[in-house]
Amino acid sequence: MTRHVALVPAAGSGARFGAACPKQYLQLSGRPLMWHTLSTLCQVAAIDEVALVLSPGDEWFDDYDWTLPKLTVHRVGGATRAETVKNGIAALGLSSEDWLLVHDAARCCLSVAMVERLLTEVADDPVGGLLALPVPDTVKRADRDGRVSITLPRQGMWLAQTPQMFRAGVLSQALAGDLTDGVTDEASAIERLGLKPRLVEGDASNFKVTWPRDLPLARAILEARQS
Ligand code: CTP
Ligand code: MG
Repeated sequence: MTRHVALVPAAGSGARFGAACPKQYLQLSGRPLMWHTLSTLCQVAAIDEVALVLSPGDEWFDDYDWTLPKLTVHRVGGATRAETVKNGIAALGLSSEDWLLVHDAARCCLSVAMVERLLTEVADDPVGGLLALPVPDTVKRADRDGRVSITLPRQGMWLAQTPQMFRAGVLSQALAGDLTDGVTDEASAIERLGLKPRLVEGDASNFKVTWPRDLPLARAILEARQS
């Protein structure tokens, strides 16, 4: 039987957020931020396991209640997101045909419907795919003085989100290569193999909490859904 495993990298320090703890542990609607992420993934019927990958030095996880069905915890995070994902896959013992859905812990406003759209659209895909958002605004490239050097046509431009869904075998192969060379998501590692991941339209609410200004928006979205 082909399994569907969600792999959630959560070994980052949240440097841009700059809080006293990593951003995935900030309190949001009475829970740590990434509890909402994990809870949503656990609610997706087709997902068999939600594998959380923490830093080996994580000092925060044990302070909270994580009673969630399907959750497994792996303290094998690495120095970069790609290393964390690679180590997580190695810890899981998957068969090469199993599907992995890699999702950022910090994208806490993911909804079950978004994951189900990805699962449906990628189910029969030979490569795999990712949630992404067509770029709504005009895109400028800046020069060193913060002035516009060029305007890029937004036609065909997408912003990559997560989950990113690939077969375990091909993703392991993609991540076995050099990870120092701008591999910021799974899809870019897959692209280096000459494969073309499918783009599936996500939602603006599936943003990644990065800076303090993102937190009130995440809170408003989660609280609107709860009421
Ligand atoms: N991540 C990880 N291991 C790392 C770095 C990041 O598992 N070595 C995870 C983060 O915990 C987060 C996701 O990858 O859930 C997306 O990364 P990002 O938003 O960049 O988080 P941080 O790296 O923690 O933040 P910053 O870049 O501001 O330090
Ligand atoms: Mg980072």
